[in-house]
Amino acid sequence: MKVDVLLGLQWGDEGKGKIVDVLTPAYDVIARFQGGPNAGHTLEFEGHKYVLRSIPSGIFQGGKMNIIGSGVVIDPLLFRQEAEALAASGHDLTKRLSISKKAHLILPTHRLLDAAWEAAKGDGKIGTTGKGIGPAYTDKISRNGIRVGDILHGFDVRYQAAKAKHEAILRSLDYPSDDLDRLEAEWLDALEYLKRFDLIDSENLINRYLKEGKSILAEGAQGTMLDIDFGSYPFVTSSNTVCAGCCTGLGVSPHMIGQVYGIFKAYCTRVGSGPFPTELFDPAGEAICREGNEYGSVTGRKRRCGWIDLVALKYAIMINGVTQLIMMKSDVLDAFDTIKACVAYVIDGRETTAFPYEAAGDLEPVYVELPGWQTSMTGVKSEDEFPEEFNAYLSFLEEELEVPVRIVSVGPDREQTIIRYTEQDCPDLI
Ligand code: GDP
Ligand code: IMO
Ligand code: MG
Repeated sequence: MKVDVLLGLQWGDEGKGKIVDVLTPAYDVIARFQGGPNAGHTLEFEGHKYVLRSIPSGIFQGGKMNIIGSGVVIDPLLFRQEAEALAASGHDLTKRLSISKKAHLILPTHRLLDAAWEAAKGDGKIGTTGKGIGPAYTDKISRNGIRVGDILHGFDVRYQAAKAKHEAILRSLDYPSDDLDRLEAEWLDALEYLKRFDLIDSENLINRYLKEGKSILAEGAQGTMLDIDFGSYPFVTSSNTVCAGCCTGLGVSPHMIGQVYGIFKAYCTRVGSGPFPTELFDPAGEAICREGNEYGSVTGRKRRCGWIDLVALKYAIMINGVTQLIMMKSDVLDAFDTIKACVAYVIDGRETTAFPYEAAGDLEPVYVELPGWQTSMTGVKSEDEFPEEFNAYLSFLEEELEVPVRIVSVGPDREQTIIRYTEQDCPDLI
């Protein structure tokens, strides 16, 4: 058995949560491998809507095992809020969710530092989610972090030392920390709540599961273009969102990676600052935003919208070794009479199909224009019902991207999902 990975190919919010939930019946275990509560993964079924931040999206289907891996950063307070809200709606997770002892904790001071560092950047703000992600990973890499396993012994000394360091930085930035006492009291309380869950060396459990023949789906957070190494640096998140992050974030060998599901929207969005070559500032962009309800699942921030960018997508497919594609939010383009897809950039007067070092400055997208389907896709149940123009759009994408599109999503609900059976060489999905 191998670990299949599902990850975002754009700038996040591609619809990962929905598809992990759809694929969960085919797996024994679902595991998050990176990121933290900066994620907002939305699932809709039977008239209910849930937004998950730290908890894997495999918790709603038939008592599957869920794991928060070592590459994740956890804020105990936000985790408790999330878990308690789920318990209140009948989803008690204490027996079905294990947390890696090696996952790092997001401290209250990390949140303050996130805000302070953003304030200090002036015009160069990243537009972070403000959840303390960057500072928590900074401490991890600089070997000053506190891990979940530390809750069980030696916590106080480590915590006080970290807090003192953070307060000194906040003072040097002249950033107020008046609220810290209140934040800290709630946070320490939530730390106790974390102990109700199995705190384990999850890499051992995952590798044992693999030996026992259990199937595992790894759920990515954010997207490839937000990856700390390969994204649009410095306007990125602080973890490896790419497939390699699954190996380091779960403790599995690259040999053990199976399918790599790359998920993308039929168009493109980005929230926060940074380059976005195909961003639209016209009525088409407004229409995508309106039809796609493009507002952040957690922060409510308006997402920037644009046409699909095949230059960036090809780059993301290459970095991740994507074996199967999943196209989301096809229905959002239902009303367009034509749809554009960016196939190259003109940078400083020269056309290129290579994703550049910095996708900013004098950059013009080169578009191919395809006819829209102008039919409602939301009720479509099988690929036989796809309009001709929609099939043409799919064929065009598959030809350009050289990877089959195996799933098409036509609405937010679990049921609004179509699995395609292509004749191309790729294994069965579910
Ligand atoms: P994630 O972070 O990748 O899990 O994605 P988000 O949950 O942040 O954002 C995706 C949004 O699109 C959510 O509001 C979903 O309910 C919604 N969504 C997912 N798939 C579809 C779809 O096919 N059509 C439409 N209209 N909405 C979708
Ligand atoms: P999901 O998993 C979209 C963006 C932020 C900001 C940058 C850095 O729901 O797809 P951070 O708080 O991580 O330091 O912010 O990354 N960002 C996301 N954008 N979806 C996400 O997660 C994101 N997580 C972070 O907006 O630009
Ligand atoms: Mg999201």
